[in-house]
Amino acid sequence: MAEAFLSSPSNNLHRLSNHYFLTIFPNRHSATRLYSPPPRSLIDTPHHGSKSDPQQVHISLAGEDYMRVTWVTDDKDVPSVVEYGTTSGEYDTVVYGEHTSYTFYSYTSGKIHHVKIGPLEPSITYYYRCGGHGPELSFKTPPSTFPIEFVVVGDPGQTQDTVSTLAHVGDQDYDVFLLPGDLSYADEDQSRWDSFGRLVEEYASRRPWMVTEGNHERECCAFTAYNARWLMPYEESGSASNLYYSFNVAGSHIIMLGSYTDFKKGSDQYKWVEADLVKVDRKATPWVFAVMHVPWYNTNEDHKDEGKSMREAMEDLFYKARVDVVFAGHVHAYERFTRIYNRKADPCGPVYITIGESMEEPDKGWHISLATKFNRHQILLAEYS
Ligand SMILES: [Fe+2]
Repeated sequence: MAEAFLSSPSNNLHRLSNHYFLTIFPNRHSATRLYSPPPRSLIDTPHHGSKSDPQQVHISLAGEDYMRVTWVTDDKDVPSVVEYGTTSGEYDTVVYGEHTSYTFYSYTSGKIHHVKIGPLEPSITYYYRCGGHGPELSFKTPPSTFPIEFVVVGDPGQTQDTVSTLAHVGDQDYDVFLLPGDLSYADEDQSRWDSFGRLVEEYASRRPWMVTEGNHERECCAFTAYNARWLMPYEESGSASNLYYSFNVAGSHIIMLGSYTDFKKGSDQYKWVEADLVKVDRKATPWVFAVMHVPWYNTNEDHKDEGKSMREAMEDLFYKARVDVVFAGHVHAYERFTRIYNRKADPCGPVYITIGESMEEPDKGWHISLATKFNRHQILLAEYS
C-alpha cells in the first residue's frame, strides 16, 4: 500500500502555506529503508446483512456543495434513495437517484446505487441512511475555506496492511481522501470488488473518497467494474469519461487523470485537461494539484519511464498552468522531486511526489516486494537537474 500524508516536521511540504495542510502519513518504509518485509495475509470481508441491506457504502464529492452516496444491494428491488439530515435519527431530506449493474463473464453485480445529495453546508456532520432502511451512517463535509487536510493513499488492495493503514487514516480528522489508483486488486475476480467495498466502507462512508484508476482497474481494458462502482464527478467537471475529471474543494482545484486512457495531444483527455486548466481561477482556488497512477518522474527501477510518454504529452499543460503538486502511486515507494520541468529543476514547475510505502508487490498483486532499486542520488541529480 502506498500512503502519503505530508506531515513530517522535516518535510518542507509540511506547511505549504500558513493555512493549508497536506499531511503525509508516517512512512514505515521510506526509500531509506530498503528491504522487503514479510507478507501479510489477504482479507476477505463478508456481508453479514440481508440481501436488502446496504453494503459497500462510499461517498464522493459531486460538484459544488453536493455529495454522491454509492452503495450496493443484492436485492434488486431496493430503491435508490438516501434520507439525510443534520440531526441523528431525523432525516428531513429524501433524494432518489440512479442505479446500475454490470456483468463480467459469469458474474453479475448487485444493484449499484448512486444518489447525489445536496446542497450541503460546509464543515457539517450529516446523518444518512441508504435504501429506506439500514443503519444510520454519517459524514462530515469539507470546509469551504482553508485549512483543509487531505489524505493520499494509493494501491491499497485488501490485506492486513490495508486494515492497518486505514486504521491510521481513521485516527486523523482529515477532510478528503485521494486515491491515485489500484484499488481492490480484484484483477477480474469480481467478488473481490465486493469484498473491497465492504472493507473500506467504515472509512469511505465518512469522508469523500476521490479516486482515479490504475492498471488493476483495467480488467480486460474496459474498466467495467471500476466505472460502475466508483462513479466520480466527471460530468460535473465537463469530462466525457469517468476516467478523468476534476473538482474544487476549499481553495484547491484537483485534477484526477487517467494513466491508461489516451493522453496524446489532441486526445479527448488532453483537450479536456487543457480546457480545465485554463478555467482555473487562482483567486478562488490558489492551489492546483494533479493525481494520477503512473508517476511522470521516477528514478526507481520499478516502472521507470512508464510515465514518460504521458509526461511528454502533457507536461507543458501543467507548467503553463503552474500546477503545484503532482501525486502518483504505482511504484509503492516514496520519492519526491524538487520543482521540475522538462527534466530540469525549475521554480515554476510542479513538485512531483510518488506516494509512500507498499505492502503490495508493485502491480503483481498482494505479495510483498518494496520497490528498493532507486538510482543513486548522484545519478538522480544528473538525470533531473
Ligand atoms: Fe499500478
